[in-house]
Amino acid sequence: MLETEGRNALDAMAALREWEARYQRGETGWDRGSASPALMQWLEHMEPCRVLVPGCGRGYEVVELARRGFDVTAIDIAPSAIASLQSLLSREQVHARVIQEDLFTHKAEHAYDMLYEQTCLCAIEPKHRLAYAHLCRDWLRPGGRMFALFMQTGKPGGPPYHCDLLDMRHLFAEASWLWPDDAPLFVPQSSGRFELGYVLTRI
Ligand SMILES: C[S@@+](CC[C@H](N)C(=O)[O-])C[C@H]1O[C@@H](n2cnc3c(N)ncnc32)[C@H](O)[C@@H]1O
Repeated sequence: MLETEGRNALDAMAALREWEARYQRGETGWDRGSASPALMQWLEHMEPCRVLVPGCGRGYEVVELARRGFDVTAIDIAPSAIASLQSLLSREQVHARVIQEDLFTHKAEHAYDMLYEQTCLCAIEPKHRLAYAHLCRDWLRPGGRMFALFMQTGKPGGPPYHCDLLDMRHLFAEASWLWPDDAPLFVPQSSGRFELGYVLTRI
């Protein structure tokens, strides 16, 4: 069931407080400390392009993409996540555009070729999912691709909010997105949860 509701400045402030507090308390169970194996697999078949990473966290994937010559823009609402990513980028001596902001306010100067959606959606309250899906569509150029890792918790509540696949099919609907025929990537997390990886093409 898709719900939607307008997002306002209070929602953004609440999200900032909530996510920053998680980083401050060290409650970052999703953090692998290195780039996701899904990205490493997908990268075998990818050419550098212009990519957006919303909800990048500490951004190991951002560093990996930048190291391989991608033009990367990374967004996170939590200042601590952004600070970690900036120091990682400077330690590795690679460049990415790193922005601390509410992703719902992000305006692309030019459409992106690629979106790397690694468990950002599961961090967003379900009532704002439809607005997020519309942004994903608008950020990408036609023919651009979204590399998505949909969190599977099998439980109500969150975050992380379960990304039921039927809901995902409605959210990223056929009018705007082409879904692949092949089976998804299965990506386990240390928490016992897992992600399902799909590459969707923006029509
Ligand atoms: C589950 S974590 C995933 C982080 C990273 N993608 C990873 O897999 O390691 C979700 C991330 O989304 C960020 N986030 C949540 N709501 C956001 C918002 N409205 N705008 C930007 N970032 C947001 C959080 O701060 C957090 O870093």
